[in-house]
Amino acid sequence: MKNKRYMNKERLIWLGGELIPVSEAKINVLSPTSQFGANVFEGIRCYWNNDMDQLYAFRLEDHFNRLLDSIKIFKMDANYTVEYLISVLKEVIIANNYKEDIAVRQTVFIDGLGGTWNSKGPVNMFVAPIAKSRKIYKEQNGLRCCISSWERINDNNLSPRAKVGANYINSRMAHLEATDNGYDTAIFLNKFGKVAEAPGSCIFIIRNGELITPPCTASVLESITRDTIMKIARNDLNISVIERDIDRTELYICDAAFLCGSAMEITPICSFDSYKINNSVNNNLVHKLFEEYDSVISGTNNKYLNWLTPIY
Ligand SMILES: Cc1ncc(COP(=O)(O)O)c(C=O)c1O
Repeated sequence: MKNKRYMNKERLIWLGGELIPVSEAKINVLSPTSQFGANVFEGIRCYWNNDMDQLYAFRLEDHFNRLLDSIKIFKMDANYTVEYLISVLKEVIIANNYKEDIAVRQTVFIDGLGGTWNSKGPVNMFVAPIAKSRKIYKEQNGLRCCISSWERINDNNLSPRAKVGANYINSRMAHLEATDNGYDTAIFLNKFGKVAEAPGSCIFIIRNGELITPPCTASVLESITRDTIMKIARNDLNISVIERDIDRTELYICDAAFLCGSAMEITPICSFDSYKINNSVNNNLVHKLFEEYDSVISGTNNKYLNWLTPIY
């Protein structure tokens, strides 16, 4: 087990309408979620604000709208509303009385005994919060990334737009290849040979003072963090942002690069394959973005309070 936090058997999770200790939450081994990865999910962050004595969930409605999109693409017999999804998330966090930064996994899955890979139901849901601190910029050394030999899934086979459990087998192959070969993680190219994303995050590079990221049609998840970064870069930091295809060799010669996502937040990259790029920890632009992002998620930036949902 990688992290001791996961060993806390007492933390409560919400499963099918009940609050139960995680050690007692069981799913049938023959359910389609267990056998075929037939589930869709969101990874949501909530950040504790000491001054306000409040826990803020970040861009909750956007996460749940994306979850409903995944449910629709994946043809699940579910009719959840955003309001209901928010209410169960709040219920389980309050039951655990979290007063620190947390991450929440909210998964909608195909349950039941008699199902197979094409079952549309019965649909069930679990919501599992866990303590997880936000990243601190100065502690980050930058990730050593390789270009994966595995191609990113695409919209005509297993759409990266839907956040489906089974998609992560593609992510798993790339990440394990990378770590087995001594890298921290991998960057996928898509079926057209252009840069797509990392196994669980999106990528930005900086060239000549401009922020560049692949478009949402380049085999990437429609990332909420990616969208946040584009908005704060354009609106608050006056940085030009371009969505366009990125070639592999542009990674090798860029001025700086970072990964982003609800889990990664903003994590600098220091090399691609054997090519060193500027140590991003010292890169001003990345640092500025990180600080602005931190103020937005913490609730200290008045402009973006509408992205925050108070839990208590
Ligand atoms: C494959 C993939 N890409 C990108 C992201 C980043 O998305 P978000 O910023 O919405 O968390 C994630 C994480 O959820 C992911 O799993």
